[in-house]
Amino acid sequence: MSTVTSTRPWWQEAVVYEVYPRSFADADGDGIGDLDGLRRRLPYLADLGVDAIWLTPFYPSPLADGGYDVADYRDVDPRLGSLAGFDELVAEAAERGLRVIVDLVPNHCSSEHPYFEAALAAAPGSPEREMFLFRDGRGPDGDEPPNNWQSVFHGPAWTRVTEPDGRPGQWYLHLFDAGQPDWNWRNPAVNSYFEDIIRFWLGRRAAGLRIDVAHGLFKDPQLADLSGLAAEDHAPSAYFHRAELHELYRLWRVILDSFEPDEFPGARTAVGEVWYDSPATLKPYLDATGLPQVFNFNLIMSRWDAAELRQAIEVMDTLAGGDRAPWVIGNHDVARPVTRYAGGQGGQPNGAAGLPRIGDPELPAGFRRARAAALLLLALPGSAYIYQGEELGLPEVVELPDEARQDPTFRRSGGTVPGRDGCRVPLPWTSGGHSFGFSPDPGDHPGTPPWLPQPSYWGQYSVARQLADPDSFFTLYRDALRLRRSHPALGYGEAADLSGASGPRMTWLDGPAGTLVFRRDPGFVFAANLGQGAVPLPPHRQVLLASGPVEDGKLPPDTAAWLAG
Ligand code: GLC
Repeated sequence: MSTVTSTRPWWQEAVVYEVYPRSFADADGDGIGDLDGLRRRLPYLADLGVDAIWLTPFYPSPLADGGYDVADYRDVDPRLGSLAGFDELVAEAAERGLRVIVDLVPNHCSSEHPYFEAALAAAPGSPEREMFLFRDGRGPDGDEPPNNWQSVFHGPAWTRVTEPDGRPGQWYLHLFDAGQPDWNWRNPAVNSYFEDIIRFWLGRRAAGLRIDVAHGLFKDPQLADLSGLAAEDHAPSAYFHRAELHELYRLWRVILDSFEPDEFPGARTAVGEVWYDSPATLKPYLDATGLPQVFNFNLIMSRWDAAELRQAIEVMDTLAGGDRAPWVIGNHDVARPVTRYAGGQGGQPNGAAGLPRIGDPELPAGFRRARAAALLLLALPGSAYIYQGEELGLPEVVELPDEARQDPTFRRSGGTVPGRDGCRVPLPWTSGGHSFGFSPDPGDHPGTPPWLPQPSYWGQYSVARQLADPDSFFTLYRDALRLRRSHPALGYGEAADLSGASGPRMTWLDGPAGTLVFRRDPGFVFAANLGQGAVPLPPHRQVLLASGPVEDGKLPPDTAAWLAG
């Protein structure tokens, strides 16, 4: 946080830590992470130095998609805790100055949601069915899907139901798994249902919402066939990026702004998960009256390449700035940065094929690059998100056995897409012992294994090992976060503050080929070397922090430095 006193909302420069609750920490020993486990580890997050936590879904769910299939939007899955436990978590987090953001999943619910069960039990055309997108099938017997849309998780986006009288019946739309029926956003009853949910969580002092598939929700009213577009393209289509979304987000903004900004947790935010094919597609979401924020996936999607990264940063800095569009290099849908950068790949949701395994000779470069990328992430203007385990340098677990995989993508693609389990393996807290400290020590009992198996080498990445090691990933993140809080040029940045939102947030400096060098005022210079050989550091007074050894004024390959300049 900069030292300038200002009234700007906290979220414009917050570093938010994404918690995947089932994989963070398990307090009750059932092998599944829970809210109590997280509450007990709040001192760890406060020590790391983040400003807020985003919790991915912790609601009751049959887990067809890791909890993104919500059966009850206003409760806590009993395996993860209770509403009272949520309140305690928020209260204890507040004592440590940490805000809590919850995940809102408005595109679809679970097929076990009571409204969907009621729709199945009701007749075609009934108000119950109108909450979802039911249609008759095509073909003489109605046994072909209503249109040719494909699920993001592979296979058709439609599933046929059996009518209450036992006959084969209508089909329902699910852009994701069959266990995730899409809501009908053209029905006002859906809108008021979600307004209540939003008020419910904000009323429980959630600091904001992360909005799942915020580019989905509205579908072309004709549900017409698509020609030549796959769901993964993330281009505007009959089901993504519809213009109707923006009127809805204006209404949600009014709700967010109706909460008292003067008391902790302050002005409420909502950050949309919008996957896009180009910045132009993202632009309409950045209207001043819309969602406060949308994720900026430009860094995630870029390969480890100086020109590509610079272009990705410039485009987004011009379009929105990191205060409206927080920077991110990883999340629970994308292969871990260490592994991705080793393979020279950019990230996309749902796939992690062809990535290096532990022991592959290119992996060490991945570690160096991920450390450098962390310094880049935290030096850029505005807000940034960190996904749990990124601060430990966890690699993607590419060697998970098929039978352990849970991601519906793996099953629906017939095993051709490994899916996202490799970045969701429960965290290692201790270097050895039962589940590396993820679950409590079961004593003389065998104990329940974690819900996803941890690899044998997991302990070498443990929190316990890294806390005491001055050269660890964790130490790098903690040092960077501390400096970021105290340095006036970092975060939102004093210069930007003084000159207004349109002032220079960062200025690129010339550097040798393959480097990224920029200045932020007052007195900060960032330099990263993505090339093959060492290069001279730009002029500076002092090295504040570096992701690797910096000697004789030289920046080695795959290394970044924060400089006083
Ligand atoms: C978002 C979530 C992802 C989930 C999907 C469907 O992309 O981040 O994990 O599978 O939406 O809800």
